[in-house]
Amino acid sequence: MIFDLMNVSYSYVGGINALKDISFKVSPGEQISIIGSNGSGKSTLLTILDGLIYPTVGEFYALDNKITEDVFDTIKDNAFRSYFRTRVRLVFQNSDVQLFSPTVFEEIAFGPLQLNLTPEEVKTRVLEVMEMIGITKLKDRSPHTLSGGEKKNVCIATVLANDPDVLLLDEPTAEPGPENSAMADKAITGVRDSGKNYNYCHS
Ligand SMILES: Nc1ncnc2c1ncn2[C@@H]1O[C@H](COP(=O)(O)OP(=O)(O)O)[C@@H](O)[C@H]1O
Ligand SMILES: [Mg+2]
Repeated sequence: MIFDLMNVSYSYVGGINALKDISFKVSPGEQISIIGSNGSGKSTLLTILDGLIYPTVGEFYALDNKITEDVFDTIKDNAFRSYFRTRVRLVFQNSDVQLFSPTVFEEIAFGPLQLNLTPEEVKTRVLEVMEMIGITKLKDRSPHTLSGGEKKNVCIATVLANDPDVLLLDEPTAEPGPENSAMADKAITGVRDSGKNYNYCHS
């Protein structure tokens, strides 16, 4: 099982109830969409699925392990945490929190450079991912000068360059303008047709 949520509720500090009694499972190869109005808890749910926050009530299993704050405690040596972080990747709703490099190429290369790859392998992987998403022409641009939809596609590419199994996308097609949603659609279709059997959950 990729994800298994049992009666999950989540309240932010201050008592804002963002999720109430959510239960569902995601099996390998399954693709799911989360639909709901603004403020209904979609981002909160994806943040739980990415192991960044933990249910206040209920149980959350990911990759067949129970996820608790203790499991992701950064002080302790924990093989599952590193495994989970390489397998599950979230593209945030706000692209600006994810982008920090001087060029799109370096942005996408950042993740693979942390893996055990040669510089040549990193370059090949970055070029492949850019081709797949359709952003090769943005290679030397500064991420901060891109349009909302272009930024979103670069964020999707940075995540894919790490070769995850589970892709979490928070409102990937929500950037205003028809050309932006068309670009994000193209990126998602590129991923789906790439031959890799991603699990992907998007809101
Ligand atoms: N960091 C936070 N602190 C306090 N309340 C929050 C925080 N983030 C979201 N919320 C609240 O939690 C609820 C769900 O928000 P969110 O998960 O962002 O919904 P969606 O993504 O569906 O728009 C909303 O009422 C929102 O105001
Ligand atoms: Mg949201």
